[in-house]
Amino acid sequence: MDHLQTQGINLPRLGLGTFRMQGDACRAAVESALALGYRHIDTAEMYGNEDAIGAALAASKLARTDLHITTKVWNENLAPDAIRKALDVSLKKLRLDQVDLYLVHWPARNMNLPAMFETLMKLKDDGRTRAIGVANFNIALLKTVVEQIKAPIACNQVEYHVFLDQTPLRNYLAAKSIPLVAYCPLAQGRAASDETLIKIGRKHGATAAQVALKWLLDQDDVVAIPKASRPESQKANLEALHVGLDDEDRAAIAALPKNKRFVNPGFAPEWD
Ligand SMILES: NC(=O)c1ccc[n+]([C@@H]2O[C@H](COP(=O)([O-])OP(=O)(O)OC[C@H]3O[C@@H](n4cnc5c(N)ncnc54)[C@H](OP(=O)(O)O)[C@@H]3O)[C@@H](O)[C@H]2O)c1
Repeated sequence: MDHLQTQGINLPRLGLGTFRMQGDACRAAVESALALGYRHIDTAEMYGNEDAIGAALAASKLARTDLHITTKVWNENLAPDAIRKALDVSLKKLRLDQVDLYLVHWPARNMNLPAMFETLMKLKDDGRTRAIGVANFNIALLKTVVEQIKAPIACNQVEYHVFLDQTPLRNYLAAKSIPLVAYCPLAQGRAASDETLIKIGRKHGATAAQVALKWLLDQDDVVAIPKASRPESQKANLEALHVGLDDEDRAAIAALPKNKRFVNPGFAPEWD
């Protein structure tokens, strides 16, 4: 598995998303993913599944140092005390002393960015998380965090897939050497039935979903976290790393509509 080095952590470039997975089904999906070779699991306090993931991690025989676990603080908990409490609860549910990456899940209109990042950096210094980062931050917010507060963020996790252009955001992140973690990398499953991707896949003995993932993973500094509950899909998504796309494929993907956003962070008048 390829990794990206960012702020002292080794981030596996393909992870398992777990939104809308809960209880025993979530535990089974995470156990299956770990058995197949996934080492990066993406969760959040808001997903209500950290306990199921904790059970799966505890049942695995894997060394903690071989695993990358990301969780996120919800935007109602962005006051310093609330962040600290939220991480305590997440760690307890995950049955861990430390997560690898702790993200601000979603900006809030009334958030106090300096106070938030001071708290997050303290949690990092205290070893409760190995690195900190953000999700759903636009360029304006990133500029404040990176250039004014100078917080050492290890990623920005945002929606990114074959149907959504993220060029301005990618360019900003690349200039600051911050990886982009692509959520909804399969456009919530829609990529699997796209005719253009199916056609490209046929050429390479691959599926449309694999083509969509490989298109993301061929881009430097991009990590993808597809959610898949079925072991067959989990395996297929891992194998997407071996698909080889050519210039003709990339041109066909570039011609797909690029304005389809399926999750709207809706916190700012313009998303750039
Ligand atoms: N930070 C944020 O605000 C934020 C927002 C949204 C998502 N996320 C994270 O990103 C992860 C991924 O996003 P997502 O779950 O919304 O969407 P996604 O990963 O783009 O798509 C998931 C859908 O694709 C299907 N699928 C997976 N592999 C497939 C394959 N090989 N062939 C065909 N279909 C396949 C899944 O089916 P099955 O489940 O039936 O297998 C599921 O219905 C989330 O789970 C979450 O961890 C973060």
